[in-house]
Amino acid sequence: MPSLQPYSTFGLAASCDSIQSFSDVTSFLSIFNTSKNKNKAIYILGGGSNSVFTEDFDGTILVNEIKGISHFDTESHHYLRVGAGENWHDFVTLCMKEKWYGFENLALIPGSVGACPIQNIGAYGREVNAFIDKIECVFLESGEQVLLGNEDCQFGYRDSVFKHALANKVLITHVNFKLPKHYELETSYGELAALTEPTPEKVYSTVIQIRKSKLPDPAELGNAGSFFKNPVVSKAVFQAIAQEYDSVPHFVVHGGVELPATEKEQIKIPAAWLIDQAGFKGKTLNKVRCHPTQPLVLTNLGGATGSDVLTMAKDIIASVHQKFGIQLEPEVRLLGSKGLISL
Ligand code: FAD
Ligand code: EPU
Repeated sequence: MPSLQPYSTFGLAASCDSIQSFSDVTSFLSIFNTSKNKNKAIYILGGGSNSVFTEDFDGTILVNEIKGISHFDTESHHYLRVGAGENWHDFVTLCMKEKWYGFENLALIPGSVGACPIQNIGAYGREVNAFIDKIECVFLESGEQVLLGNEDCQFGYRDSVFKHALANKVLITHVNFKLPKHYELETSYGELAALTEPTPEKVYSTVIQIRKSKLPDPAELGNAGSFFKNPVVSKAVFQAIAQEYDSVPHFVVHGGVELPATEKEQIKIPAAWLIDQAGFKGKTLNKVRCHPTQPLVLTNLGGATGSDVLTMAKDIIASVHQKFGIQLEPEVRLLGSKGLISL
């Protein structure tokens, strides 16, 4: 039984029936159909930086290694077609080198290009959907190849159609990006606002620096980034919390862009603050730790089990709910023996 430990950045000990990689659609469909005929579960994996295997997986893991990057430009845009198995950060770094700007805020996010649309990766005021033109997919059951436009993907905060109507139904083979040659740098988020005369290069290197200072490096300490999503609550819920905690940090949500409060109705409260207030920051339970510089991240101190992780996550959810009446939801993809599970 092959170990999944090296295939997931959280690094829990778990095994599966088999792990097979593919670099084209024909070999993918052949492995998929063989597994299906044996009535085995399948799970498509990129870099495993958002997938937490909480127990042995009773099926086949298909690792995407579809590569290739092509580029052309027009007077107004750069167009890029990227294989789903390319590494996201390497791709961003290449774009910076070539001066194909836009992705600078999204530097150093681990994982593959193929996974970037699944949860619509975002950081430092940008979400990747701003630059997604089309996505090339294959339907698992029929092998039919389809091209989805940006609108078809129903992107939201850490959300897309791939988590709903198309969940477990398609393989993303290529992501096509469209980068406008003239665009405004996004420097409103946190520390980026302090940059003097910002350039894409400065944003890129500052984002890398901030991330290195706050987030644990999965190569040194197992983790899957933010374990929970930041909750979006009504103004009434926010005001009730603000009455008791006048320093509660918050952002107003407006179609993916965050504006100062008072202007709109939906409020995003950082889960890191809620977890911090609930007393979990730096706390260790068995071999799982709530990260001391970013409590939204849970880490594997070495030798943690899936049940340790689930216990810690449930404790955090229950405590935050009891204190604030807010239900945190996992941001990571949790896997049980047959596939995705919820808490
Ligand atoms: P995986 O874990 O391999 O897969 C994730 C999901 O996508 C799974 O459900 C999988 O089945 C599906 N999938 C993967 N590839 C395909 C495909 N080709 N076709 C169909 N389905 C597919 N995320 C952010 O948004 N912002 C951040 O700032 C951020 N910071 C992070 C920091 C750290 C230290 C870590 C460890 C993670 C962070 N993440 C962040 C989360 C993670 O990097 C992203 O979710 C990333 O896109 C996951 O890529 P992956 O290839 O590793 O995905
Ligand atoms: N905070 C605390 N205590 C702490 C740390 C933070 O109260 O110890 C509060 C502060 O008020 C801070 C706020 O939390 O201003 C937000 O913290 P941060 O800027 O680190 O961002 P985040 O909301 O916790 C989100 C994403 C990250 C992304 C960063 C930067 C989610 C779930 N997480 O984190 O994404 O990198 O913003 O844009 O939206 C990921 O998805 O894996 C991920 C790391």
